[in-house]
Amino acid sequence: MTWLKQFLSSSIGLKIVMALSGLGLFGFVIAHMLGNLQVFLGAEKFNAYAAMMQGNPLLWPARIGLLGMIFAHMGSAAALVLRSNKARPTGYKSHQWLSGSYAVRTMRFGGLVLLAFIVYHLLHMTVGTAHGEFRHCMSDGAGGLTCFAYQNLVSGLMNPAVASAYIVAQVALGLHLAHGVWSLCRTLGLGNPRYDLLARRAALSFGGLITAGNCAIAIAIVAGLVKLP
Ligand code: HEM
Repeated sequence: MTWLKQFLSSSIGLKIVMALSGLGLFGFVIAHMLGNLQVFLGAEKFNAYAAMMQGNPLLWPARIGLLGMIFAHMGSAAALVLRSNKARPTGYKSHQWLSGSYAVRTMRFGGLVLLAFIVYHLLHMTVGTAHGEFRHCMSDGAGGLTCFAYQNLVSGLMNPAVASAYIVAQVALGLHLAHGVWSLCRTLGLGNPRYDLLARRAALSFGGLITAGNCAIAIAIVAGLVKLP
């Protein structure tokens, strides 16, 4: 295992871990948004989709994989930050950012905002302890499940303060992806100037689409366009 130790103690090794785990999380975020957009199809369809997910034997392996990717992503990011701080313990007198974009400067802060959102979101939509009217799925005793994900989502986001917190988190997610997807393309070998503009545009478009899709759900609920059945 010395090769693994060597790999993880190098900056490029850490960057590759961050890029691959980021890619996996990016895939989850797209799939999750597409699943959630089914809220526009009504309670029956959305609850059937939730029951299919909750009753899936791959649910726990997927959850464990997701948790592993979150730890790998945050752990490699923290190790790289510590490494760069150690390399320059006194800090700069004034920061001259190489790339002046807002997203670059907010990657670390945005990552922490997303972490706080994920903890809150799980307590709100999965565990239910941060949700006053949360209902867990019920088993019919014959292998079938009845879920109330639609009711949980709509009654949760009808509160304008909660919907606003979701919207802020989706903007942070969009900014994180707008830089992160471009950055992972470079780490994974698409740093060639020929592809750079394409990678930048793709990252910006994906960030924008994820923010728009997720915010559309929160806005439609708080505006009363998606209602309780
Ligand atoms: C407006 C945006 C979002 C909405 C409307 C939303 C909605 C939901 C809902 C309804 C559930 C419960 C599903 C169920 O009962 O089967 C859920 C679970 C979850 N969400 Fe989200 N979500 C959003 C954004 C996000 C984001 C940005 C992330 C991560 C970056 C995320 C991560 C998760 C995770 C990890 C679960 C737990 C899945 C499981 O049961 O294992 N969500 N979300």
